[in-house]
Amino acid sequence: MDRKDFLKLTGSATALVLFGGITSLLESCKKTTMKMSAAIKVITGKFDNTLHLPPIITGASPINLVAKKNTASIIKGKTSYVLGYGDSILAPIIKVNNGQNVSINFQNQLEEITNIHWHGLIVPENMDGHPQYKVQPNSSFNYQFTINQKAGTNWFHPHPHLITGRQVFKGLAGIFIINDSEEAALNLPSGEFEIPLIIQDKRIYADGSINYSPESTDVMSGYFGQYICVNGSWSAYHNIKTKIYRLRILNGSNARVYNLSLSNGLNFNIIGSDGGLLGTTQIVNNVLLSPGERIDVLADFSSLSVGTEVFLQSNSFNGGDSQGSESFQIMKFNVTEQVSETFSIPTVLAAFTPIASSLSIKTRSFEIANNHSGGHGGMNMGSSGSIHKIGGKSFDMDRIDETVSANTTEIWEFDNSAGEDLHPMHLHGVHFQVLSRTGGRGVIQPHEMGWKDTVLCMPSEKVKIIMTFPNNLGKFAFHCHNLEHEDSGMMLNYKIV
Ligand code: C2O
Ligand code: CU
Ligand code: CU
Repeated sequence: MDRKDFLKLTGSATALVLFGGITSLLESCKKTTMKMSAAIKVITGKFDNTLHLPPIITGASPINLVAKKNTASIIKGKTSYVLGYGDSILAPIIKVNNGQNVSINFQNQLEEITNIHWHGLIVPENMDGHPQYKVQPNSSFNYQFTINQKAGTNWFHPHPHLITGRQVFKGLAGIFIINDSEEAALNLPSGEFEIPLIIQDKRIYADGSINYSPESTDVMSGYFGQYICVNGSWSAYHNIKTKIYRLRILNGSNARVYNLSLSNGLNFNIIGSDGGLLGTTQIVNNVLLSPGERIDVLADFSSLSVGTEVFLQSNSFNGGDSQGSESFQIMKFNVTEQVSETFSIPTVLAAFTPIASSLSIKTRSFEIANNHSGGHGGMNMGSSGSIHKIGGKSFDMDRIDETVSANTTEIWEFDNSAGEDLHPMHLHGVHFQVLSRTGGRGVIQPHEMGWKDTVLCMPSEKVKIIMTFPNNLGKFAFHCHNLEHEDSGMMLNYKIV
């Protein structure tokens, strides 16, 4: 069935080329993206489902993770058939300290290959979950690495060739938290006041199982769902006290970008991004978070009165045909208890030094617009039927597309200036800083003023990033984190030598 799903989508893309040529595929791409937005309308519920909080396991002793079929209660009173790494959808939260050796015994109890990619972690090549390292059904693999990076909110998910989107959509993903002493010195809210929020949209059949059946139109825009879930709970609420909360927010959706904000005029105090704490707290009213990105925020609920309801919501935004046209509520916080708060939000957080662009020894530019004929790489349908490319190329497991040297600094530019789609570009194996954004939003966003591994390139935007490659040799992937784009070829390899 799964292979059939995939054949169906590549088949229809190929058919379009055979019968109508590239131009009509492009036109149908645009038209059907709009149709999709009309068909997939977010369903808002009563926010009476309790927010699921994943259990926490620490890396002090070996961790066992099993990918398998589970049931979960995504919709209140209904059983959903899902995949998970624990006993439900998603996974336990893994929490480790910098410097720790981590050993994860992973077992694949699915009926197909899978593997785990540690998104945001710098680990050896053979531990990174590149699609070439697969774990067969009924087999296991021991992931082992030493944590050598700053405190931050990372995550993990499968990365098998062509089927990452389906496995993530069906429930395989989890949060991986790193702590260190620099972070500990800030005494940030913890325990019940530190909440991970994995935001994902799901399509769900009447029988409760998750529906992942992309048509060629879904491959163009990415696969969307009507049910906006947090930690695997749709229409969820969470009871809170009058305190400052630390929310570690992950956009774990396949394709949906959220323009996150809080109701009641509350701000987000952004303290961290993908790669850890920012230098200083950034206060914003809303933040555009694309698939794969994380923000670490402090939300100040301390001056609210008991009985107040606060919604985490997504506001409408411009850019990308169908994306952003809707605004909706995601989950609800109920203030149920008055307590005193003594913590105050820090302004200075962590040491952060911008990488000087003068250190760069090379600039590489990648055309990612894809959907315009003419100019640059243009759109060129290969025999793979791939419709999303980077620099005119689609993914080849064994080809090395770029070679970089360890301990050198480079600038990479993702050029979506002729594009009409949103592309969250992600690099394995390195953390980068956003150097500039021209066109589109035109500026570096507040949550981008730190270490990143995923950056959103909106239509018309050209985004430059700068990074120093670690002394961690081997082949790593970089790709669009719209998982349907990734699975349809929008991924390349680079090698650190
Ligand atoms: Cu989270 Cu290669 O991706
Ligand atoms: Cu990654
Ligand atoms: Cu993309």
